[in-house]
Amino acid sequence: MKRRAAAEAAGLVQNGQRLGLGSGTTAALFIEALGRRIEKGELKDVAGVPTSGASEEVASRCGVPLTTLDRVPRLDLAVDGADQIDPALNLVKGMGGALLREKIVASASERLVVIADETKIVERLGDGGPVPIEVLPFGWRPVAGRVVALGGEPILRREREDLAETDQGNVILDCDFGLIEDPFALASALDAIPGVLGHGLFLGMAERAIVGTPKGIDVVFARVRRGETEQTTDDGNDDGRG
Ligand code: A5P
Repeated sequence: MKRRAAAEAAGLVQNGQRLGLGSGTTAALFIEALGRRIEKGELKDVAGVPTSGASEEVASRCGVPLTTLDRVPRLDLAVDGADQIDPALNLVKGMGGALLREKIVASASERLVVIADETKIVERLGDGGPVPIEVLPFGWRPVAGRVVALGGEPILRREREDLAETDQGNVILDCDFGLIEDPFALASALDAIPGVLGHGLFLGMAERAIVGTPKGIDVVFARVRRGETEQTTDDGNDDGRG
């Protein structure tokens, strides 16, 4: 199902675009589909900024040209997976540990398109698991204390016996806040904690979500008007110009 969403997103890419290449299994399928379009000659002069070492490897293997934010500080389109997607297309990301680069790349892009299967859809953020927070190792304990004061339960992420380390050499606190009443207030509170380098709440960033379902594709658009987020859906027959 996520393969369908990934292929649909690859169909949105146009010649000459500079792309953000997300991380995770769904984003990897997107990069592979992009590589196939390039190989067939359907796409020319595209290049992508990878959001993780893993995505860089997939892109290199699939013949997707790479670039950097140093060379291209503004991107046309970022395509990435998500761990939770609410009805307003607010997201939780970062279970793959790449949230810091993912957020930088998404915010450097004109558009963020999220690709996922139905399992990522939640009524309210927090329903599908914790909010990952990337923390400078030097200060993880005080940060964990501040998370507890905000009502969260932080767990320092481990990989087997070792601490999990991000591509930047930092650590991740997976913070369970239960159902999140006000994601914007929580995001502001987390942003204000010294030592927090980034968190997995991606709010008001996604332009659309492409969701692979057993029946096909659902495309959900978010439109922001007067500070309100409005949700619309269509049948997925979109021409990519939104
Ligand atoms: C990586 O840090 C994450 O934000 C991923 O985008 C997210 O975990 C989705 O991953 P999957 O596509 O593997 O479910």
